[in-house]
Amino acid sequence: MPREVFGRGYDFLPRAEILSLEECARLVRIFASLGMEKLRLTGGEPLLRRNVEALIGMVRGTPGLQDIALTTNGSVLSEKARALREAGLHRLTVSLDALDDATFRAMNDADFPVARVLDGIDAALAAGFSPIKINMVVKRGVNDDQIAAMAHRFSGPQYVLRMIEFMDVGNSNGWRMADVVPAAEIAERTELSLTPLAPNYEGETALRYRTPGGGELGIIASVTRPFCKGCTRARLTADGKLFTCLFSAHGHDLRAPLRNGASDADIAALIGGIWGKRDDRYSELRTSETAALPKAEMSLLGG
Ligand SMILES: C[S@@+](CC[C@H](N)C(=O)[O-])C[C@H]1O[C@@H](n2cnc3c(N)ncnc32)[C@H](O)[C@@H]1O
Repeated sequence: MPREVFGRGYDFLPRAEILSLEECARLVRIFASLGMEKLRLTGGEPLLRRNVEALIGMVRGTPGLQDIALTTNGSVLSEKARALREAGLHRLTVSLDALDDATFRAMNDADFPVARVLDGIDAALAAGFSPIKINMVVKRGVNDDQIAAMAHRFSGPQYVLRMIEFMDVGNSNGWRMADVVPAAEIAERTELSLTPLAPNYEGETALRYRTPGGGELGIIASVTRPFCKGCTRARLTADGKLFTCLFSAHGHDLRAPLRNGASDADIAALIGGIWGKRDDRYSELRTSETAALPKAEMSLLGG
């Protein structure tokens, strides 16, 4: 959320507009009844949602749900790691774009030092999360000089490092193709001898490698090698809109039916109808013209 676009005093949605934890849990049950196996809490910053660990406790044990993950910027992870683990969170992803403090701040405009994120990662390891996934978005001329340092720092078996091609999500991040460091170049610049790994499952987004340190490094080539065909992700915003693609301009409102007395079966039918018509393949069709079309922001959709 660049300050020059959003202003310094970010506007938050009024409380009544965001789904309550109970409404979120109900939707998780409905999605799981339709076959959802994996849930990721993201944002925005999910650890800023008061009592997010209570939501994890509420959805843990939902029939069919096998995996609960959370993506965070790590700013309050030191304080929250143990509670998240105790609530039943299975997996944690921490976003970290650089080890150098100035580069870290240049990438994410954060008002906290990189040391705080590194402390959060250590706290999460101590709380029992392992491996921890580290997401690094690579932007040419901003943090690409950190590729080798990040690859070395997180090459151990307790980490899964993901290096992500910078994407044109939303309209506020000033994306240009020239900012993208292609996956092949990222792999080379790790300066590690990488052994390719087979995909874990069909539709997996990362090209995966074993690192010499016994860890895993994956490169998400969403720009140079799009994977729309294998994408099975549904995204739900904090105010209850269902997006069928990370690059859509609009979502489908689930909050109104949720609050207007619709039954679980009604909502399941609504979701099934939306999902059945899904034909998004933005990344396969991407051009500099499509990049300029209106799209929902990353801060709404969570990645
Ligand atoms: C939008 S954040 C939301 C969760 C949380 N606030 C965080 O920082 O991890 C989710 C992920 O999207 C990644 N991301 C953000 N902008 C991106 C872009 N333009 N291209 C690729 N990945 C991006 C972030 O690095 C992060 O790992």
